[in-house]
Amino acid sequence: MNQDAVKGARQSLHGQWSSRLAFILAATGSAVGLGNIWRFPYVAGESGGGAFVIIYLGCILLIGLPVMMSEVLIGRRGRRNPVRTMAVLGEEEGSTRFWGLVGGMGVVAGFLILSFYSVIAGWSLAYVVESASGAFTGADSAAVQAVFGGLTDSVSRLGIWHTLFMVLTVVVVARGVQKGLERAVRVLVPALLVLLFVLLGYAITSGGFAEGAAYLFRPDFSEVTGGVVLMALGQAFFTLSLGMAAIMAYGAYLPEDTSIGSTSITVVVADTSIALLAGLVIFPIVFANGLAPDQGPGLIFLTLPLAFGDMAGGQFFATLFFVLLSFAAWTSAISMIEPAVAWMVERFDVTRAAAASVVGVIIWLLGFLTVMSFNVLSGATFGAGTIFDNIDHLTSNIMLPLGGLLIVVFAGWVMSENSTANELDLATPARYRLWRFLARYVAPVALVAVFLNAIGLF
Ligand code: PHE
Repeated sequence: MNQDAVKGARQSLHGQWSSRLAFILAATGSAVGLGNIWRFPYVAGESGGGAFVIIYLGCILLIGLPVMMSEVLIGRRGRRNPVRTMAVLGEEEGSTRFWGLVGGMGVVAGFLILSFYSVIAGWSLAYVVESASGAFTGADSAAVQAVFGGLTDSVSRLGIWHTLFMVLTVVVVARGVQKGLERAVRVLVPALLVLLFVLLGYAITSGGFAEGAAYLFRPDFSEVTGGVVLMALGQAFFTLSLGMAAIMAYGAYLPEDTSIGSTSITVVVADTSIALLAGLVIFPIVFANGLAPDQGPGLIFLTLPLAFGDMAGGQFFATLFFVLLSFAAWTSAISMIEPAVAWMVERFDVTRAAAASVVGVIIWLLGFLTVMSFNVLSGATFGAGTIFDNIDHLTSNIMLPLGGLLIVVFAGWVMSENSTANELDLATPARYRLWRFLARYVAPVALVAVFLNAIGLF
């Protein structure tokens, strides 16, 4: 078949990004979220710091980047929801339509991730109100813990904020690609970046900067276990929104002439910088206050208020920070249900609003498992810990890397060289060969090795 006939021939039912910048903003909005600011510091803290960070950076470059390019190229070539796209391309490339199941797994992963993500985003919303009311002004560690405990101990308070966040998410997704998604991301990322730099200024003068930076960047490889490597890999997928077809769904709305390579690099660099910046802010505060880096999911909610409580204008900056964090979570949440919503719209011919509502209600209900993991069910631990810990582990460390493996194998082995070269349209043949080498060999081998290692076989 004439390749150029395929390329550009398809149009997405859901519209298109208005420009290359709009896609970069949307993909960055998806990538930058609680994963960078809440999850990265606490997982790094639980995994011992430096060595985890180096492995995480390696995973981003060698696996994350080629997987992201694969997702975007598959999405744009198929121009449908991820389930249909993988099925159609599977057949078109002479394999089977069962590849659609990879998209299906992504839809399920998105449901599960958003069910806990929304609860944590609810913490951020609650902290907007706490900050604005001055709860953290001059607060010591005990006072901040009392605020955090008062929130997480209460099913009703957690439930209300979780509900509010789900409503906000469904409303934007219901409005569609340009009106809803694009508008929400235009100011957020730059503003968040500015505020992180303000916090960095505070961290540098906090007295714990050297210790914090050393913790983050000085690797002690004797602490590395298969579990730490798996956590680093899971974090890389989570933070870049990879392995569950969110970026594939966004790729379907990417204009034809936009370069997939350079947009992917922009998103990866922005996302990684924000995570490292968050780490450089959090750990100095942790050490300056004699706190433990490995205290788990509450880490930023127990440390950042101390910094705000101590600095001039802290009440204002704290309020602004949690507003921006909530926005960052919002633009990520939107991308988590986009695959499911696009699928329902195409499959059942319903409106976006109807699809978003149905999906939203299911995820909202699931979210109560996480709500209760912090109080009434906090004693119900198994496997990775609480129910929340297990949903997080299953999705971030297993479903996302597995999805990523199948996606990269599809792009590297199932799709013809002609198709991928044509769709990627990289500036030089050497760049294409590098991508193809990473996608065919490096990423799949590394992913399989990490899995085998984690289950103790290697
Ligand atoms: N990348 C987002 C974050 O860092 C989370 C996310 C995961 C979004 C998977 C979409 C898909 O917060």
